[in-house]
Amino acid sequence: EIRGVLFDLDGVITDTAEYHFEAWKKLAEELDIPFDREFNERLKGVGRMESLELILTHGEKELSETEKDYFASKKNDHYKTMIANITPNDLLPGILEFMEEIKEAGIKTALASSSKNAQVVIERLEITHLLDEVVDAAKLERGKPDPEIFLKAAEQINEPATACAGVEDAQAGVDAIKEAGMFAVGVGSYLKKADWIVEDTSQLKLKTLQAKFQ
Ligand code: BG6
Ligand code: MG
Repeated sequence: EIRGVLFDLDGVITDTAEYHFEAWKKLAEELDIPFDREFNERLKGVGRMESLELILTHGEKELSETEKDYFASKKNDHYKTMIANITPNDLLPGILEFMEEIKEAGIKTALASSSKNAQVVIERLEITHLLDEVVDAAKLERGKPDPEIFLKAAEQINEPATACAGVEDAQAGVDAIKEAGMFAVGVGSYLKKADWIVEDTSQLKLKTLQAKFQ
C-alpha cells in the first residue's frame, strides 16, 4: 500500500526544467561552449556546480574555483530572472489535481528537488500546503542519482522507502528512486528503469498509481 509520494519539482510540477536549460544555454554562450538539448539531458536533476563542471568538461575549459563560483552564480541570476514571474498557471497539466487526490486519500507528500530555488518556486506556484515536507537541497551531501534525497524525503514523512513512490522527469532522478528501493514514476517516454511511465503529467492519476504500485 502506498503511503508517501515524493515529487521532483523541475519538469514534474512545473516546466522550470526549460528555464534551467535556457539559463545554462545563455551561460554556455558566454563561455563560448557549444550547448544543445541533447547535452542538456545530462544536466537534468543534477546540482548547480556539478552541472557547471559537466559543461566545462564538455567545452574542454578549465576555470579556477573563484571563476566557477562566479559563473555558477551568474547562471543562477539568469534563472532567478526567469522564475520571478511564475504563477499557479505554470503548474503542469493535471499536477494540482494529482496532488490534491493524494492529500485527500491521506497519503503523505514531500518535495525531493535538488534545486536551491525550490522553496521560492513552490511558494510562487501556491502549492506549499500540498507538501508535508520539503528536503533542503543545501543540506545534501550527494546529488541524484545518489538515493540520499529520496531517502531523506521518506524519513521526513516518517514512511519506509518501500511504501513510497517517487515522481521524476530525469534519468538521474529515476535512478535515485530505484536505488532508494522505491516505486519510480517517470514523466517522459524515454526514461529507463521506471516502474510506470507517463507521457505527460495529465496522465498522473492516484487510482492508476495505486493499481501499479507494489
Ligand atoms: C534540479 C534541476 O531540480 O535542480 C537541475 O533539474 C538544476 O537542472 C538543479 O541544476 C539545481 O538547481 P538550482 O536552482 O539549485 O541551481
Ligand atoms: Mg526534474
